[in-house]
Amino acid sequence: MSMTACGSGGSSSGGGGGGGGSITMGFSQVGAESGWRTANTKSVQDSAKSAGITLKFSDAQQKQENQIKAIRSYIQQKVDVIAFSPVVESGWDTVLKEAKDAKIPVILTDRAVDSKDTSLYKTFLGSDFVEEGKKAGQWLVNEYKDAKDPVNIVELQGTTGSAPANDRKSGFQEVIGADPKFKIIASQTGDFTRAKGKEVMEAFLKSNPDIDVLYAHNDDMGLGAIEAIEGAGKVPGKDIKIITVDAVKDGMQALADGKINFIVECSPLLGPQLMDLAKKVVKGEQVPTRVVTEETTFTQEQAKQVLSSRQY
Ligand code: AHR
Repeated sequence: MSMTACGSGGSSSGGGGGGGGSITMGFSQVGAESGWRTANTKSVQDSAKSAGITLKFSDAQQKQENQIKAIRSYIQQKVDVIAFSPVVESGWDTVLKEAKDAKIPVILTDRAVDSKDTSLYKTFLGSDFVEEGKKAGQWLVNEYKDAKDPVNIVELQGTTGSAPANDRKSGFQEVIGADPKFKIIASQTGDFTRAKGKEVMEAFLKSNPDIDVLYAHNDDMGLGAIEAIEGAGKVPGKDIKIITVDAVKDGMQALADGKINFIVECSPLLGPQLMDLAKKVVKGEQVPTRVVTEETTFTQEQAKQVLSSRQY
């Protein structure tokens, strides 16, 4: 776990920001596993600077124990507000209770937790991952509407136990499950990384000669899988249709190049809204319990049109 502080105020005095002075936020990031995550970190850091919020930032390297350590350290430092993107959904109640007892408001950003006690955090800011999975499924159903033969799908899941992996899987399954011709013949985690996406896709290709479709829970795993597909002498986007989630620049480039067939957008640009919510919760103002970001989808033609203007 690495920790750094930045923001308009330089080093933090910690605590007491609710009284009208500068606000200190402790932010525990999941890691740096994907292009999406890098863009999200930049958005949070840039927005803290513009909002005049002193940011104590830590990278948990995809480990829950590192996030718990970071949150405990923010509690000790008496920051004004804690924000974090939980690597997995379960196992947060104890540390969130510690923050609540210390009267430090918590904002969940990007990923949700499954705590029954919703008073342990003030709000959630991020995407509707179930909806993203459904959009991926709807494209597939439409693409194969006239097909009579079975459609063999392999799935690269995100980090096991994470909200986006759980929800993107269930949303997709709900939509394709209505027609028995859609068959998920293999499904495994690629941990949201390019390297693991490639490795798992290589294994899928070895044990399944007839793959029609790859559904990857993010662009990075899809990009790794493209290398595996090409390495196996097949043409990505043609021999195997590919659906991914995120719409980061590299993914959009592959979509425009015809190697990916469809991308469901998931926006990492959460920083500005996060800083607004932080200011409100520190002042004790009411905030919505859930703030969901607006997102779209991209076909290959749409990717060609918007590629040059993508921010991340
Ligand atoms: O939680 C958002 C997901 O995390 C993104 O889709 C993925 O790329 C990232 O690692």
